[in-house]
Amino acid sequence: MTADPALLRSARHIAKDIFARVIQPGDTVVDATLGTGQDCLTLCQLVGEKGLVHGFDVQPQALERTRERLTESGLHDRAQLHLLGHERMAEVVPQGVKLIAFNLGWLPGSDKRVTTQVETTLKAVQAALSLLIQYGVLVVCVYPGHEEGQREQEALLSYAASLNPRHVSVLWHDFLNGGIGAPGCLVIEKIREEVLQSL
Ligand SMILES: C[S@@+](CC[C@H](N)C(=O)[O-])C[C@H]1O[C@@H](n2cnc3c(N)ncnc32)[C@H](O)[C@@H]1O
Repeated sequence: MTADPALLRSARHIAKDIFARVIQPGDTVVDATLGTGQDCLTLCQLVGEKGLVHGFDVQPQALERTRERLTESGLHDRAQLHLLGHERMAEVVPQGVKLIAFNLGWLPGSDKRVTTQVETTLKAVQAALSLLIQYGVLVVCVYPGHEEGQREQEALLSYAASLNPRHVSVLWHDFLNGGIGAPGCLVIEKIREEVLQSL
């Protein structure tokens, strides 16, 4: 089957295009929501042999599935996988990160009750911004088609809109004709090394 060539295919594809545009070989990046490891594999390919991907998830099966996927591709040595909430990422990831990716929601094919939550997502986004280097980028795919996802979208957009434009640039990609609950993609680029305002 040939891949859909459309430019505006989905929020996830916009995110992937940004990964490819921003990440250079040798970079350190973070996958804040490992899930099945698809994004982590893409990130491992982009950082190259000398780069590093820190991955987070709260479910052991997400780490297992990601580890299997990376091992099959021979890229497992490019990733450090943490069974830890992304809101605690600053405890294990040093400053100097080029890109941090979030794909909110639940692990496909598993318990939908274990979904990302607005309070921890906001804390994690704030931690993520503190770790980025200048011109580092945060990419968040948001799924407002369920209740918690709707809360996450509202809180994230309100927080992102309040950030100082001298420190960060914020872009919200929304599929205006995608119907209620269409996933969107939030992108924040850090343009100056400054302390960001807290929540
Ligand atoms: C939509 S999935 C991610 C999909 C993944 N990016 C991929 O490529 O397959 C969302 C993941 O976030 C995880 N998650 C939920 N709360 C979390 C938290 N506080 N910290 C890290 N991961 C969390 C869930 O366990 C789930 O695996």
